[in-house]
Amino acid sequence: MVNLQVKEIAVIGGGTMGHGIAEVAAINGFKVHLNDLTLDILQRALNNIRWSLSNLHGKGQLRESPDEVMSRISVTTSLEDAVRNADFIIEAVFEDFNVKSSIFKRASEHAPPHAILASNTSSIPISELASVTNRPDKVIGMHFFNPPVLMKLIEVVRGDKTSDETVNVTVELGRRLGKEPVVVNKDVPGFISNRLFMRLIESACLMVMGNEASIDAVDSAARFKLGLPMGIFELVDFVGIDVVNLILKAMVNRGFKFSGCGLIDDKVKALKLGLKTGEGFYKYPEAGKYSRVKVPKEAGEGVNPVRLIALAVNEAAWLIRNKVASVVDVDTVTKLGFGFPKGLLEYADSYGIGSVIVELIKLRDRYGTVEPDPLIMQMVSEGRVGVKAGSGFYDYGGEGYETVKLTIEPPIAWITLNRPEKLNAINSKMINELIAVINKLGAEPFDRVRVVVIKGAGKAFSAGADLTMFSNEEPTEAYLTSRMLQELTNKLERLNKPVIAMIHGYALGGGLELALACDMRIASEDAILGLPEVTLGLIPGSGGVKRLVRLIGLGKAKELILTGAKLTAKEAEELGIVNRVVPINELENETRTIALKLAEEPPITLMIAKGILNIASEGSLEDTLTAESMGFSLLFSTKDSREGINAFLEKRQPKYQGK
Ligand code: COA
Repeated sequence: MVNLQVKEIAVIGGGTMGHGIAEVAAINGFKVHLNDLTLDILQRALNNIRWSLSNLHGKGQLRESPDEVMSRISVTTSLEDAVRNADFIIEAVFEDFNVKSSIFKRASEHAPPHAILASNTSSIPISELASVTNRPDKVIGMHFFNPPVLMKLIEVVRGDKTSDETVNVTVELGRRLGKEPVVVNKDVPGFISNRLFMRLIESACLMVMGNEASIDAVDSAARFKLGLPMGIFELVDFVGIDVVNLILKAMVNRGFKFSGCGLIDDKVKALKLGLKTGEGFYKYPEAGKYSRVKVPKEAGEGVNPVRLIALAVNEAAWLIRNKVASVVDVDTVTKLGFGFPKGLLEYADSYGIGSVIVELIKLRDRYGTVEPDPLIMQMVSEGRVGVKAGSGFYDYGGEGYETVKLTIEPPIAWITLNRPEKLNAINSKMINELIAVINKLGAEPFDRVRVVVIKGAGKAFSAGADLTMFSNEEPTEAYLTSRMLQELTNKLERLNKPVIAMIHGYALGGGLELALACDMRIASEDAILGLPEVTLGLIPGSGGVKRLVRLIGLGKAKELILTGAKLTAKEAEELGIVNRVVPINELENETRTIALKLAEEPPITLMIAKGILNIASEGSLEDTLTAESMGFSLLFSTKDSREGINAFLEKRQPKYQGK
């Protein structure tokens, strides 16, 4: 339970990170006290914030005017004044232990006793900073990514003495800042992000220094085989080779074992520090001026992408085995922190854990790198070798489906429609696999799965039934296909757990019909929804006609189906087809939040409520009233209903078990 309500935030340090953090806090309604050594620095910070706010405003990404946001920021050169009324203090000065610890000491002497002291450090141990304060239980790491305004990730780092309450308040604050906080449970050098980043660099460096591949080849494989937004060396250039070097050295000093990278050392010596100096591993038009690095696709042909990620996967296994982070945390960090299109461990599962181990052994034999982690060795011995086996870092439901992916992350099961190259068009195989998955989820106990989310891989939810199925279909075959699709949507509608459709990109035809059979629909702003079948000379045949009429009424449903119009997410929301529209980068987070909220409710009650709501939309008043009374009375036989009532009377949070 989070007790402390953060209202005022002090940010110490007005540099790149500090001004960005202050900006994010002010945008999200907090009163901010920004502190640095001189008024000059503070003025520059304010100018930077104003420039960034105007940019956001120009793009329509700011609810208020820049002036309104700015009015919540005050600046002071006095650290004591900055922290005096703050509930939460974020230090973001340069990475120097003496400077930081002196700030922590002074801040703890002058801040209110309840205030939490957080550091944005990426390399200094939180526990050491905590030890100079009068409140080590209230000291925590809050590692933002650059630029804080755009990057969604925050690593929340627990020191040896950090209390659970402090972690909870910080996570909650991170969410209120519109970010996705990942808790790093132990204060290990480099946390999660830099440990993984350094391993990617290590593989890349070893391959180049060992004459296995050129820099271009490595980066081409990273971009075109793994689909990463930047190559590894390109990313190092972007971050700054000196910055990477400093972080790496700090980690190594704290015991992080690293093979060394002569390539980085050479560049640092030559002062070719990457984008900021105009040259690093690549050349740029001028210092600080970014232009996309040209890497030929063919260059990476001989590079095995598994080798590139093997050391990082091994590091992730170490983090998981040592309970520093979970599988999902690792993937959140790689997706939100590095812009990976899918998580590092999703890659590992799809390439196969066996292949990762083979590459680790080759790297060990050739370069003396670490042994494969015991966790992945155990996974292999248990047959959990990835997607093909139905289980790896993730659980794919026991069977290797081809067109759908099932990931059970208790209490949520994620079904991904997985034909991204065909915009997840629904073919016969997908219909059968979806039916199998839904049957399986129906049988899952509530302590594992309480809510199901359906989403699409790639750039769409689903562009409908696969039209190639219909090109030569006889009417009788088409009838059977339609019946199968109806069976699928009926199963979804009747599943004993709530189902949320998470819609981005196109949800057309059968794709929208699938979503209409779900209990809720959350869409991103870019979603396009419609039933365009008439434009192909067909009509919806997966139960969509009835479900749309039920949802929005006959008049609007006729307009939509007869014109085959495609709606924007906003229009669909106005009509009541989708429950909520959110920016694309918030879609997964928002859906997860809603799913987790549903998962807190008593699952049998939700199951019965869902059934009765379905009857209410179909049956007569009398049918519904009878079902309602029967469901109502039946729930008195559950332990959860007693728990709910008792918890209310005892003024505590209920804990539902699905019994
Ligand atoms: N059935 C089969 N294949 C489909 C499909 C469908 N419903 N929708 C998209 N695809 C395929 C495309 O044929 C293309 O395959 P290809 O790369 O092998 O040529 C791939 O998915 C990508 O689609 P594309 O049309 O190139 O993408 P786009 O962004 O230009 O257009 C749409 C997207 C959704 C507007 C367009 O694909 C479309 O109109 N699809 C059909 C939608 C529809 O009528 N659905 C109702 C069916 S019940």
